[in-house]
Amino acid sequence: MTSTPDLTDLAPQQRAALGSGADFWTTKAIGSVTAVTMTDGPHGVRRQAGATDHLGSAESLPATCFPPAVGLAQSWDVDLVRRVGEALGREARALGVDVLLGPGVNIKRDPRGGRNFEYYSEDPSLTGLLGAAWVTGVQSTGVGASLKHFAANNAEHDRMRSSSDVDTRPLREIYLRAFAHIVRTARPWTVMCSYNRINGVHAAQNRWLLTDVLRGEWGFDGAVISDWGAVADRPASVTAGLDLEMPGGSGISDAQVLAAMAAGTLDPADVDRAARNVATLAAKVVAGRELGRAVDTTDEHHRLARAVAARCVVLLRNDRGLLPLTPGRSLAVIGEFAAEPRYQGGGSSHVNPTRLDVPLEEIRALAGAAPVSYSRGFATADTGVGADALRAEAVAAARHADVAVVFLGSAAAQESEGFDRQHIELPAEQVELLAAVVRAQPETVVVLAHGGVVRLAPVAALAPAILDGGLLGQAGGGALADVLFGVVNPSGRLAETVPVRLQDTPAYLGFPGENSHVRYGEGLYVGYRWYDSRDMDVTYPFGHGLSYTTFEYSDLALAAEPAGIAVRVRVTNTGSRVGREVVQVYTALPGSAVSRPVRELKAVAVTAELEPGASEEVSLLLRRDDLAYWETRVDRWIVEGGAYQVWAGASSRDLRIGGQVQLAGDDLRIPITAESTLGEAMADPAAAAALAEVFGGMSESMGDATALGVDMMRMIASIPLNRLTGFGVDPEKLDALLARGDD
Ligand code: BGC
Repeated sequence: MTSTPDLTDLAPQQRAALGSGADFWTTKAIGSVTAVTMTDGPHGVRRQAGATDHLGSAESLPATCFPPAVGLAQSWDVDLVRRVGEALGREARALGVDVLLGPGVNIKRDPRGGRNFEYYSEDPSLTGLLGAAWVTGVQSTGVGASLKHFAANNAEHDRMRSSSDVDTRPLREIYLRAFAHIVRTARPWTVMCSYNRINGVHAAQNRWLLTDVLRGEWGFDGAVISDWGAVADRPASVTAGLDLEMPGGSGISDAQVLAAMAAGTLDPADVDRAARNVATLAAKVVAGRELGRAVDTTDEHHRLARAVAARCVVLLRNDRGLLPLTPGRSLAVIGEFAAEPRYQGGGSSHVNPTRLDVPLEEIRALAGAAPVSYSRGFATADTGVGADALRAEAVAAARHADVAVVFLGSAAAQESEGFDRQHIELPAEQVELLAAVVRAQPETVVVLAHGGVVRLAPVAALAPAILDGGLLGQAGGGALADVLFGVVNPSGRLAETVPVRLQDTPAYLGFPGENSHVRYGEGLYVGYRWYDSRDMDVTYPFGHGLSYTTFEYSDLALAAEPAGIAVRVRVTNTGSRVGREVVQVYTALPGSAVSRPVRELKAVAVTAELEPGASEEVSLLLRRDDLAYWETRVDRWIVEGGAYQVWAGASSRDLRIGGQVQLAGDDLRIPITAESTLGEAMADPAAAAALAEVFGGMSESMGDATALGVDMMRMIASIPLNRLTGFGVDPEKLDALLARGDD
């Protein structure tokens, strides 16, 4: 436990000064308050020793580059992500970093989002589980996390001004849900507010967000820091709940804070609160530093990065059991990314890796005596050799080998913080190359690297086997070789749907908005919630991923408990190889009173490695909090009672076993007002009783559908109470009814 620091010795100037950074990465040391060093980021420590910047261009000290969130999320594995967090924390400590600026947990609303590679998923439950594991891992080493970017920061276009205009239900149920889960369960030391506005108000000046919701509802007790350069009006931000403006050093906004206090427009209590929260952070840092520095972890963490990356690879397709590769067969490895891997994105999260596995070399290492040729196939930059010549060389190599392994993907220059993508196509020359290779060599495996989702319909139409790595970090090359040769049986799952075309995506017409406003018109229907509810074709569904073995689901048991729905299901390895299965639990509430996706992910579990024939009983809890929807009429979470449909499956479209369970709902009484309809009043026991009393037999006769006819009854039921006077109802009786209905 860290005690609350005593700031009584500090002058007002010093308290104001604590609320902005000393320079690019550190806070100020004032009085007994220590300076705190922060740095990016989510998949590796970007500690800059010389020139500083937040765009990833200046060099940083070498650190292990773990799979960026796009890859890591494909593990769906909470324990694995926690271990990555622990390793990041140890490296941060060794590099003198006190707070790591991550995890990034914004929802992938649109596949064009420029920072999607830094985010986990299109689903808030999966994002929340993984983000909490990351924070827990990092903070277990005495290093703080910075949960970012709070909130609704789902595009890069115009990011410092753009307003994310989101209705309350999607804001709560999709965009804030992961943040809430992580704050409550993992207690990050800091939360970083985003650049954008939310429903017109800058995140950095949004009192509802930073104070009412974050602290009031979720109980956040850490420091709120700004994204780098997100503060336009520091006094307004301090009032809203911001504690620390980053970066700092000019002193300009400290003077503004003092002036605002002098003018009476800024409450000194808010400045004190900010100073106290920064001082408390510094105290946690001091306690964390006492845990000491790790010894050199370079080798150990590279091995961990390889093991983790292998768990993030998704086997999208495997016709004829082409994979794993049979030992002894000659290989034609094709594609620039085999020799020059794409393993992370650009911008502030860019890490200077301690070493880099090259897929081609790793494949050669595992291929043993079998010949492995390499042809570049295509070039992302001008190499002086034309596309036709590169393709012809690759096709010849493919023809002379037993199997072709073709590395495709999007170029690094297309994917970075700071801008969105214009499209989701693979470069045309890559698809042409693949078509020509497959014509020459039907035994072709495709290996994909990309930060944002790419359209795979053209690849799926050609290649019998496809491995999707997303971005896998510095050891991705070794991990891919492990999966190709079956050293590791793939268990990765897509954390984002692969749509048939960009035009099918939910925000297609509403991205990235105009005139600094983005209307989230698709509401709750983000990702698979959209495709599945509309029953649209997709190329690969959310949660999809094959294995070299097969699994059977059986013995589903569902039980309603006070905490939620307890789920048990048996998973048996029915194939011939050792493997692990990712069990996904989806729910639906048919006949719900509110608009709901056709199904939603509510829990995830990963089995142990199961031997052929072995089985495991997996237990999961669907917590009431996760089953609740946001009821806008009373502005709170409500669990609706009813018969919930629960499925355990291997993707949102591969539901293996299902059942129903009756769950008691929360009390929900919608206040009856003059604007309530007669039907609503009659459905409310207290109001219906008052109606009967005030109007005598009227409600009974109106409730008798056979007397009035069903059509007539439905019409009458939709009349608001205050319109009844137009039909001759005495206004005094109405007032009496409303007074009684409040009881
Ligand atoms: C990014 C943050 C990052 C910060 C510091 C900003 O541009 O949005 O994610 O932590 O820079 O590098």
